[in-house]
Amino acid sequence: KRLILIGPPGSGKGTQSPMIKDDYCLCHLATGDMLRAAVAAKTPLGIKAKEAMDKGELVSDDLVVGIMDEAMKKPSCQKGFILDGFPRTVVQAQKLDEMLEKQGTKIDKVLNFAIDDSILEERITGRWIHPSSGRTYHTKFAPPKVPGLDDVGICKTGFFRPMRPWLSWQRWRPWVLSVQVTGEPLIQRKDDTPAVLKSRLEAFHRQTEPVIDYYGSKGILANLPAEKPPKEVTSEVQKVLSS
Ligand code: AP5
Ligand code: ZN
Ligand code: ZN
Repeated sequence: KRLILIGPPGSGKGTQSPMIKDDYCLCHLATGDMLRAAVAAKTPLGIKAKEAMDKGELVSDDLVVGIMDEAMKKPSCQKGFILDGFPRTVVQAQKLDEMLEKQGTKIDKVLNFAIDDSILEERITGRWIHPSSGRTYHTKFAPPKVPGLDDVGICKTGFFRPMRPWLSWQRWRPWVLSVQVTGEPLIQRKDDTPAVLKSRLEAFHRQTEPVIDYYGSKGILANLPAEKPPKEVTSEVQKVLSS
């Protein structure tokens, strides 16, 4: 499958991606993640992208089209992919169509994470990320809690949710402790402030909403009720993709 996830900041694109990816063995291509990695590594691309990202504005079309073109060529992406946060302008959508046409493929479905702006500030300001795995948590909606160890705070230690919840608490404990020892703290994104969110939302309404119409007119758009709890959104996604 070749899928696009589209939605405002905090609508749940990154949260749903691992589930979709595992269900269909797809590669997950998130322009935001790639750009943040480039900024952290201070590559020429990262240096160019940083200013716009810090302000919550979109990076130039040429830049993101370039990195996406590269990324989609990876062997692991040949069977299908999830595009998370791309395309975000109509120009990007047109360029993407051109790239896919050259490969003789096309997008199967565009999942639109529809949600009211008013919910997003709480989601964004409560988000915490485990840097090496990219897993996303939320202090209220998806806390990284381990039974019996509630006293271990999210900022102090950075442990993350069990991958295998059926493991007994005793078998888990050493693992939790080892995470504490390696001390990988959860981090917050620099652009996850109310002020920067405001300009990210502006960019979404002005530049990205037309992309939703672009795919709507192609008849491949599916609207998801993204204000529902994560698990319910996952089953909505599964419904759309199996139909
Ligand atoms: P990007 O990284 O793409 O950020 P974004 O679009 O603003 O989206 P987010 O990652 O903030 O939201 P998400 O939908 O993934 O939410 P999540 O699942 O984490 O882009 C960053 C910047 O890079 C842009 O501003 C731009 O500068 C640049 N850029 C990127 N792509 C570009 C492009 N194509 N063109 C130009 N520039 C580009 O969820 C958020 C929180 O809510 C989490 O804590 C989560 O646990 C919680 N949560 C998730 N789902 C639910 C739920 N159903 N109920 C309750 N809580 C939930
Ligand atoms: Zn994201
Ligand atoms: Zn709007």
